[in-house]
Amino acid sequence: MTDSSPVVAVVGCAAGGLEELRPKLVQPLLAKGYRVAVTLTPVAGAWFRESGEAERIADITGLPVRSNPRLPTDASPHPTSDVVVVAPATANTVAKLALGIADNQALTAVNESMGVVPVIVFPRVNAAHARHPAWQGHLAALRGGGVHLVYGDEVWPLHEPRTRPGRELPWGSILVAVDRALAAVR
Ligand SMILES: Cc1cc2nc3c(=O)[nH]c(=O)nc-3n(C[C@H](O)[C@H](O)[C@H](O)COP(=O)(O)O)c2cc1C
Repeated sequence: MTDSSPVVAVVGCAAGGLEELRPKLVQPLLAKGYRVAVTLTPVAGAWFRESGEAERIADITGLPVRSNPRLPTDASPHPTSDVVVVAPATANTVAKLALGIADNQALTAVNESMGVVPVIVFPRVNAAHARHPAWQGHLAALRGGGVHLVYGDEVWPLHEPRTRPGRELPWGSILVAVDRALAAVR
């Protein structure tokens, strides 16, 4: 990894499977030679500060884990990204992203990246989230904006809430999507 290595911005939300972000996404991306800059939603940031994962990720990436917006007088602590991957994405963050809401640092970064660099989103949702009347519209808005969704029966069949605890997230499909997106832009 050098200063010219591709930068993968990883955005994590407060969803099941977030606890595996470091071993299943951050470390494999680093092993591929990419730089990795992690930003968390405020709730996810609280989870990872409490568990010590924020510090562990900062140690291996060499970059601070962001969840708060910077002060106007501060420089951005993360390099410019070549690809953005939101995994796991909550139903909440998917809905806000589809509407262009940027009320936290994670959403600000992803919203600003849309149409500029490839954006990959894995909605870590259940059948109840998908029954919400606005859900299909949110997916259509994101797809229309060029977002690559890791979504569908082949990667993440939807089940009723709390019926599949501890289910492995489709990390392999997410990693393949990152590789393909970077290959297409470089
Ligand atoms: C233990 C736990 C697991 C959760 N898992 C999910 C999940 O898998 N998917 C989801 O959409 N929301 C999940 N939630 C709900 C979100 O954390 C909640 O909607 C939160 O406001 C999302 O904030 P964020 O989108 O800013 O990360 C979970 C909540 C808890 C406490």
